[in-house]
Amino acid sequence: MLTITAASLAGGQGKTTSCFFLARALAKLGYKVLMVDADPQSSLTLYLGHEVEANQPTLLEVLKKQVAVEDGIYESNYPNLWLIPSDDGLEVIQEYLSSTAMGELVLKKRLKEVRDLFDVCIVDSPPQRTQICLTAIVAADELLIPAESSSKGLHSLVRTLQLVDELKSVDAFEGSILGIVPFRDKWLGRTQAKRSQVSIQDMKEVGIGILVVPSILESERYKQAIDTGRTLEELGYPDLELPFQKIIEVLEKKWLLNKTNP
Ligand SMILES: Nc1ncnc2c1ncn2[C@@H]1O[C@H](COP(=O)(O)OP(=O)(O)O)[C@@H](O)[C@H]1O
Ligand SMILES: [Mg+2]
Repeated sequence: MLTITAASLAGGQGKTTSCFFLARALAKLGYKVLMVDADPQSSLTLYLGHEVEANQPTLLEVLKKQVAVEDGIYESNYPNLWLIPSDDGLEVIQEYLSSTAMGELVLKKRLKEVRDLFDVCIVDSPPQRTQICLTAIVAADELLIPAESSSKGLHSLVRTLQLVDELKSVDAFEGSILGIVPFRDKWLGRTQAKRSQVSIQDMKEVGIGILVVPSILESERYKQAIDTGRTLEELGYPDLELPFQKIIEVLEKKWLLNKTNP
């Protein structure tokens, strides 16, 4: 199982959007995908239409080792897609992780227990530099850094790269950075908005040697796809899938991705 985490140290950078569409694209190709919602805001859980019931285990119980990892995994409404959900109760994990030796390794270790059950695991992370954010990054073989095509996005990218460097310097992060995903790239007809153009150019300069994947365009269609449960292609916008196709192409080239028999 290959683990990919989407991380970016600000809200509204496209983390959850990237996770959702990448996971669906992989699942559609026949990969068995486990999604992990590591954000107490639980947007991913919501996007997947999963309702957490009071007595059901979530990522919180999984991280605290109160249940077997399998018991925190739920089938989603989509074929080949499973979820370890979260709700706002996940906030209390901060304290647990800070008081545990090597708290940042907890998610990585837990995911190892189910590595033979899935082909790919996709982890959505919170926007703040918290313990849960660290454990989500450290769990990754490959890191995706979505960043809004704006100065805020650039700032988020810079801070995320700094954090990754810090984690690398203490040998906590052993994965690599798969790429930067420019988010909400705005075009007016055939003309790219100045702000998008400048910030994406800056992203290329800040992330020397890091792939900048085709951007997620500013578009209502992504939300529409989430709300209706249909793919962008089914809605008649196959071109909007380009960022995720590129990411999958890179992953398939670099890793021997297996398709587990159903
Ligand atoms: N292509 C898009 N264009 C414009 N807005 C988008 C697009 N995709 C998603 N959004 C909206 O942008 C917001 C932030 O996206 P999200 O993926 O939740 O970011 P993050 O997880 O980094 O906080 C969400 O409200 C979402 O509905
Ligand atoms: Mg999010």
